[in-house]
Amino acid sequence: MTLSPLAPNITHLSHTHTSELDAVAQAAEWLAGAQSVVALTGAGVSAESGLPTFRGAGGLWRNRRPETLATPEAFAADPKTVWEWYDWRRSVHAGCSPNPGHHALVELERAKSEFCLVSQNVDGLHEQAGSRRILKLHGDLWKVRCLTCGREERDTRVPIDPLPPYCSCGGMLRPAVVWFGESLSEETLRAAFDAASRADLVLVLGTSSIVYPAAKIPRVALERGARVIEINLEPTELSSSAHLSLRGKTGELLPEIVRRALGGAP
Ligand code: OAD
Repeated sequence: MTLSPLAPNITHLSHTHTSELDAVAQAAEWLAGAQSVVALTGAGVSAESGLPTFRGAGGLWRNRRPETLATPEAFAADPKTVWEWYDWRRSVHAGCSPNPGHHALVELERAKSEFCLVSQNVDGLHEQAGSRRILKLHGDLWKVRCLTCGREERDTRVPIDPLPPYCSCGGMLRPAVVWFGESLSEETLRAAFDAASRADLVLVLGTSSIVYPAAKIPRVALERGARVIEINLEPTELSSSAHLSLRGKTGELLPEIVRRALGGAP
């Protein structure tokens, strides 16, 4: 898929052009009026739960090279080291709980007849908050897959000992996540792009919007005439194309926008 020019009728209201209050009110109004909503989430949504993001200050990729830990080649060369990193992440994640941003997305799912949550996160916090329908683009940290028989199953052991773990068939288990250079599930990806094509509003929450194909999802929606609202601490690759780009924490701004959109007190 190639990028196309953006729809011409975009009114860009960045945080620098409008007060935060106006932007929140505008976002709430658009959300209230939207029939079909997609929310695309990234690591920033879980930051307020205490999980490190990948990029930026304190990010997991700041002093680690992704290709040494998150590629099939790295795993083939040294499965124990890769597993130790995933085991460490599982132990950090196990102590975390969903934050108000996750909960706001559950409310949206319940309120909107057409709502699709698409997540790049593997942490399980959306499910823990109560989201029911999630398209998990990058897999699940709490699942393992056998390299020999291909069986995938939930595994919540923390820690896993010994590492690497093995399947009952004797094959080695790997984390059921998508690594760099690997394909995403075609079915999941198709469902995400279908939802983006139908959406009249896309919320892009706590993602740097640089990892493809996920970053393409709001672009497709824009081409189809949907409104795009971004919430992020910092400007991203998407900010200048979004109709509204809010600077702040998803755990603070999103619950406020959802509350107003769903008829809470102004
Ligand atoms: P990144 O770490 O690239 O980006 C996180 C974004 O969240 C940044 O733009 C931050 O500014 C923003 N952010 C941090 N805290 C926030 C908060 N409280 N509220 C709002 N925004 C906040 O994470 P992703 O975009 O999810 O892939 O990264 C995409 C993929 O790259 C991940 O799924 C992972 C990674 O390598 C794989 O592992 C395959």
